[in-house]
Amino acid sequence: MRAFLTSLCIIFALTATGLCLNCEHCLNIHGGSCSGASVKCKEDEAVCVSRRENTTIENDSRLSMFKGCMKYDPNICDTILHGGNDRFQNMMYNKCCKEDNCNRESFTVPPLNLTENGLECPTCYTNSSYECSPNGIMKCTGKEEQCYYFSATIRRPGLPFGKHASQGCVSTGCCEFCLPLLKGMTYTEIKNFTCM
Ligand SMILES: *[C@@H]1O[C@H](CO)[C@@H](O)[C@H](O)[C@H]1NC(C)=O
Ligand SMILES: *[C@@H]1O[C@H](CO)[C@@H](O)[C@H](O)[C@H]1NC(C)=O
Ligand SMILES: *[C@@H]1O[C@H](CO)[C@@H](O)[C@H](O)[C@H]1NC(C)=O
Ligand SMILES: *[C@@H]1O[C@H](CO)[C@@H](O)[C@H](O)[C@H]1NC(C)=O
Ligand SMILES: *[C@@H]1O[C@H](CO)[C@@H](O)[C@H](O)[C@H]1NC(C)=O
Repeated sequence: MRAFLTSLCIIFALTATGLCLNCEHCLNIHGGSCSGASVKCKEDEAVCVSRRENTTIENDSRLSMFKGCMKYDPNICDTILHGGNDRFQNMMYNKCCKEDNCNRESFTVPPLNLTENGLECPTCYTNSSYECSPNGIMKCTGKEEQCYYFSATIRRPGLPFGKHASQGCVSTGCCEFCLPLLKGMTYTEIKNFTCM
């Protein structure tokens, strides 16, 4: 079986389908960089990723970095995924690449697109309840083309788990694929995550 898999790897390597990729693997939830050992990816993981997260409440920003293997997804690779309002923001950027251990290289997170896109969303934020009612309106920018409502038990790096509810603008499609990617801001229980 092992010999069979190894020969598959060689065949796929020769045909450059991206199988049997090796990527640097590490996680630092208390800072924006990390380094680690090279690991072999699973067969369906076609890219190496460096994922920088920034979770901010008021003026308190906490950065995290994850590096590893990932399935290729054009919704996730090389785009800023962002959600929040004037008080709470959660951002991640997944830098993807396809060569062995290419995620060892440094990269820069592109600036947020701050051009208004015409959508307006209600806003609220609380850390003491699973519900919050709109107390403002914000103009969405760039590819944040949906309004969201998020209610969960969350933990930002270095802080305890606590209640959270917020509303604001979010990157299109985030309800479908954002939560499972998070390494910095984690959650135990999702009460509601709706994008509309
Ligand atoms: C993190 O996000 C906050 C809020 O969007 C921003 O002000 C801050 O500059 C970001 N930090 C980094 C290092 O990107
Ligand atoms: C956040 O930082 C700005 C600029 O440094 C300051 O004016 C403001 O009072 C700060 N807000 C809080 C809640 O700390
Ligand atoms: C909730 O927010 C208040 C005000 O910003 C802060 O003082 C308090 O520590 C926060 N509580 C938790 C559990 O994060
Ligand atoms: C920034 O966002 C606006 C509004 O969605 C869009 O029209 C524009 O093409 C974006 N610019 C870039 C460089 O992506
Ligand atoms: C989740 O939030 C949406 C938008 O506020 C709301 O319409 C829906 O009823 C909520 N779902 C649950 C299960 O609370």
